[in-house]
Amino acid sequence: MALPPGFRWGVATAAYQIEGAAAEDGRGPSTWDTFAHTPGRTADGATGDVACDHYHRWPEDVALMGDLGVDAYRFSIAWPRVQPTGSGPANARGLDFYERLVDGLLERGIAPAATLYHWDLPQPLEDAGGWLARDTAYRFAEFAYLAAERLGDRIDTWITLNEPVVVMAYGYAFGIYAPGEELLLGALPTAHHQLLAHGLGTSALRARGAGRVGIANHYSPARPRDAASEADTAAAGAFDLLMNRLFTEPLLLGRYPDLAPLGGPDPASYIRDEDLPVIAQPIDLLGVNYYQPTGIAAPADLSSPLPFELVDLPGHPVTGLGWPIVPDGLHGLLTGLRDTYGPLLPPVHITENGCSFPDEPGPGGAVDDAARIAFLDAHIGAVRAAVDEGVDVRAYYVWSLLDNFEWASGYGPRFGLVHVDYATQKRTPKASFAWYRDLIAASREPL
Ligand code: NOJ
Repeated sequence: MALPPGFRWGVATAAYQIEGAAAEDGRGPSTWDTFAHTPGRTADGATGDVACDHYHRWPEDVALMGDLGVDAYRFSIAWPRVQPTGSGPANARGLDFYERLVDGLLERGIAPAATLYHWDLPQPLEDAGGWLARDTAYRFAEFAYLAAERLGDRIDTWITLNEPVVVMAYGYAFGIYAPGEELLLGALPTAHHQLLAHGLGTSALRARGAGRVGIANHYSPARPRDAASEADTAAAGAFDLLMNRLFTEPLLLGRYPDLAPLGGPDPASYIRDEDLPVIAQPIDLLGVNYYQPTGIAAPADLSSPLPFELVDLPGHPVTGLGWPIVPDGLHGLLTGLRDTYGPLLPPVHITENGCSFPDEPGPGGAVDDAARIAFLDAHIGAVRAAVDEGVDVRAYYVWSLLDNFEWASGYGPRFGLVHVDYATQKRTPKASFAWYRDLIAASREPL
């Protein structure tokens, strides 16, 4: 079966990973500036100070997207450019940048899909408690309102938050990402406060007449190491609860799953009943970011604070970061969401899917990333199969347009369809760029 009419092909990026210009036009510091500038936090001490210099080179990058022929571009609006201290009036020069970008996209017929929070929290808000503080959710709604006030008439799709689970787990539980807290299950309130931010932000966007609104969740299907082991299966259930269901059930069912099996702070200490209808207000799309399933086993150490342990998933090829390549995981995830939530599942947009490899130009200057083509082909095939089985998927965005700052892993992993030489900022479309361009063009041809 063909993909539905109006299906959108896109590419995705995020502000801190590509923009650079960290101190320009009144931008304030974010948690990621602080974190990346703290010795030992990122590979080779990499920071986003310059990144892909997209802040200055955006016309070239928009032209590349024009050549690619995408329908939509998912980017993020840096909160510290709009509100340098995280509250108060808008910094007009920060919004001017996004207005230029959005107008440039529209001139080329590319629909702008803006994420409001892709992990760059204004540092003063972190100093006041960050996502452990309920107040941050209200600050986020103000930011959303200001962004929609300026850009709401031109942004086609709004994504409130990107991967709140990663902020909770990597940012506040394990300290791998900004702000670097190691609270383990003490990080659970950050899940609720982010979901509340999503709900309050959605209301603020709608108050400014915003169009389509949704959230981008990270989904990693849990695969027990030994499916015949009750302990491993229970551990996989706990992982699924913490990483997937915790961020889906409040949104789509208006209630939290029972968090008791996880332990951690008493939910009544941070969740208020009246928050649930705010979080569960209807959304126009559920963004799904998918990279890999996770192998799970019962913890070997009985004193472990977590009810599961992460293990390798043998038997699969891996990406440059060692992530298992399992396209079938995406298919199962999509049909599983449909089976679990039925008519409560809004249209799905694959807001991210992609892979990193250490791609470098060959002797003739071309970047032959055959492994990325194989990855994308197989994953797009998985999406098509899910659509054939009746899942309502309406968009697919490759992560990423450009090689960029891969957070704590720095500039080593390359996720782009376009290679970036960071010393010269030269952009070189890889073989996968031409492949994706042809796929998009072919999908437009009448059947
Ligand atoms: C998901 C995140 O949203 C994005 O920022 C990151 O670069 C990719 N995963 C790859 O790890």
